[in-house]
Amino acid sequence: MKKTSLLILAGLFSLQVQAQDAKMDAFINKLMGQMTIDEKIGQLNLVTPGGFTATGATVSQNVEENIKSGKVGGLFGIYDPALVRKPQELAVKNSRLHIPLLFGLDVIHGHKTSFPIPLAISTSWDLERIEKSARIAATEATADGLNWVFSPMVDIARDPRWGRISESSGEDHYLGSLIAKAMVRGYQGKDWKSTNTVLACVKHFALYGAVEAGRDYNTTDMSRIKMFEYYLPPYKAAVDAGVASVMTSFNEIDAIPATANKWLMTDLLRKQWGFKGLVVTDYTAINEMTAHGLGDLQQVSAKALNAGTDMDMVGEGYLTTLKKSLKEGKVTQKEIDLACRRILEAKYKLGLFDDPYRYLDEKRPAKDIFTAENRAFARELAVRSQVLLKNAHQTLPLKKSGSIALVGPLANDRKNMLGTWNIAGDWKKAVTVAEGITNVAGEKVKINYAKGANFTTDTLLIQRLNAQNGLVDVDPRSPEAMIEEAVQAAQKSDIIVAVVGEAQEMSGEASSRSDIGIPDNQKDLLKALKKTGKPLVVVLMSGRPLTLTWENENADAMLEAWFGGTESGNAVADVLFGNYNPSGKLTATFPRNVGQIPIYYNHKNTGRPYEGVLLDKFKSRYLDVSNDPLFPFGYGLSYTTFSYSDVKLSKSTLKGNETLKATVTVANTGKYAGEEVVQLYLSDPVASVTRAVKDLKGFQKISLKPGESKDVTFDITPEQLKFYNSDLKYDWEAGEFHVHIGTNSSEVKTAKITWNK
Ligand code: BGC
Repeated sequence: MKKTSLLILAGLFSLQVQAQDAKMDAFINKLMGQMTIDEKIGQLNLVTPGGFTATGATVSQNVEENIKSGKVGGLFGIYDPALVRKPQELAVKNSRLHIPLLFGLDVIHGHKTSFPIPLAISTSWDLERIEKSARIAATEATADGLNWVFSPMVDIARDPRWGRISESSGEDHYLGSLIAKAMVRGYQGKDWKSTNTVLACVKHFALYGAVEAGRDYNTTDMSRIKMFEYYLPPYKAAVDAGVASVMTSFNEIDAIPATANKWLMTDLLRKQWGFKGLVVTDYTAINEMTAHGLGDLQQVSAKALNAGTDMDMVGEGYLTTLKKSLKEGKVTQKEIDLACRRILEAKYKLGLFDDPYRYLDEKRPAKDIFTAENRAFARELAVRSQVLLKNAHQTLPLKKSGSIALVGPLANDRKNMLGTWNIAGDWKKAVTVAEGITNVAGEKVKINYAKGANFTTDTLLIQRLNAQNGLVDVDPRSPEAMIEEAVQAAQKSDIIVAVVGEAQEMSGEASSRSDIGIPDNQKDLLKALKKTGKPLVVVLMSGRPLTLTWENENADAMLEAWFGGTESGNAVADVLFGNYNPSGKLTATFPRNVGQIPIYYNHKNTGRPYEGVLLDKFKSRYLDVSNDPLFPFGYGLSYTTFSYSDVKLSKSTLKGNETLKATVTVANTGKYAGEEVVQLYLSDPVASVTRAVKDLKGFQKISLKPGESKDVTFDITPEQLKFYNSDLKYDWEAGEFHVHIGTNSSEVKTAKITWNK
């Protein structure tokens, strides 16, 4: 199309948007003109009825009465069109102004069809499939009566002790930003009014992933430069993609909790980034500011509203104190109106004023939820969300014949396959690894199963893991007896597959760990199996990077399968038997031990970098462990091997807005067809501020048949050279740059260029 016709189209589109906005404004102005102050404050109240997985101490009271009297703006935690219809009818038929409710839920990695946990999905580096997973989740969620999901979670996480790393896309902001956009596109689609799209909610704004010592809900403290360079970009990416809502984080930023942080919620989010949607708090985040030391409920509620936070999740601080604060001049009518307007706008844009029941078609669940296609896609995504960590002597893939000792607490477990935050997922429908192996390998493989170990022998930990949903079954036998049975199974088998790791509830919210190894009793099982001399394949399930030095030294092969969702068992078997050649690449560094944490690939160099001279004393290093991680960011093996040529550059000296083309030839040098994520990193060795040793700036996922090779070219422009300087100005500086291309963040080929202004 010609440029002029494009301009005309863009002009017409903007006129249409303006007309729609004017229509919406007129509607909301009229409605707000009829609303009392109580009704306006009521819209700011997001409640959850009891009886679902609450993540805080409080659940909402008097929900029914409050809905009828116009004191509720939205509800979360229930789904199913028949169930959702009841409160919606209460609001529409009984409240004075008949304002419909929003219905939200934590749809995090799929709704009823459960996909792998977000950390796992991120290791696929497959933006199209990630977007599709959100699309399917939105279709299922809307079929279940929902119109708002509390996702994507985009917190950068550099500390695997933090249990919520499982909900994140790992440590890198570039990949994290692309995933954030893909998720928002997937959930919201192109048309909010379509009945299979939902409002997305980017969370937790901001910096929640940087909690000190990896302890959930802990303090964060960070320089602005680090914030802008590394932690804020994924939230900004979601805003740029048009995310409808933002959830505040529990933590403080510059000594002010996010929920009351005006700089964050108004200056940055709205004024600088142009966000126009609604800001909702996290669960009782307003009330929690009392414990943070910011005052009583009235004071903290006023602070939250003044900061630009629109909706109060569960805590009812707004509901019970704002009117008083208005009378006392602690908040203004304008602020209440603005917050109320943003919530009404969301409802308007969803089409709820036209038809409050538009998401409540009781025929849809059977048609749209948990379909064969959705399950097939869950398996397709889960095979791509596993990372092969080790494969000595080509132990994998397994033959579809002979005998396997299948052992470990996760080998035949169904309850822990879905992973954290699967509110609507049904573990009873999940596929176990034992079933997956039978499905994939058929009758020719003889399975000798033995549980071998419980998740842990720590009875207090088991109680805590079972406090909410009782997913951890305990075999009453002694650890020795269980190990003995597993050893016997191993002795009569050709190979051992040990499925070990974390129970689902060992990661996720409020599940930080100070020791991120597999529990000792499971390690004892592996040690006993090792002694049998049979080849040992370790399949790991976990919601975080684990410390695996012993396992890496002793296992013949290791596959990180995370928690794969409904199709877990099938997907693990697909990879073990080579129906799919693994292609996942780590998005969070695996440390050697907990003392190395925080450890991440894009660190600074320090003034005393350690260059490997063992007896060098005054260097930035540990006496008892190397600086390197066990497995770096971007790492992941394949059943085949890939070779990389040197980096070929279109030019070595550039100027201004030129584009550099950097090319490598990647060849499949092994026996299997496979996919490889070719990664581009850049570094800027001399700048006005210290820079990371390298930063990810691009990647391409390619597939190659055995013997095949491909040229992979990256276009590099000055945009990718930009960084935040000490005035927080985002720009690039002329000089030398290093272009690194490789198979992971540590193994790269490097070429140098000079780029002048
Ligand atoms: C979590 C949020 C979640 C909310 C509602 C909180 O505890 O931090 O991520 O969306 O609960 O369930």
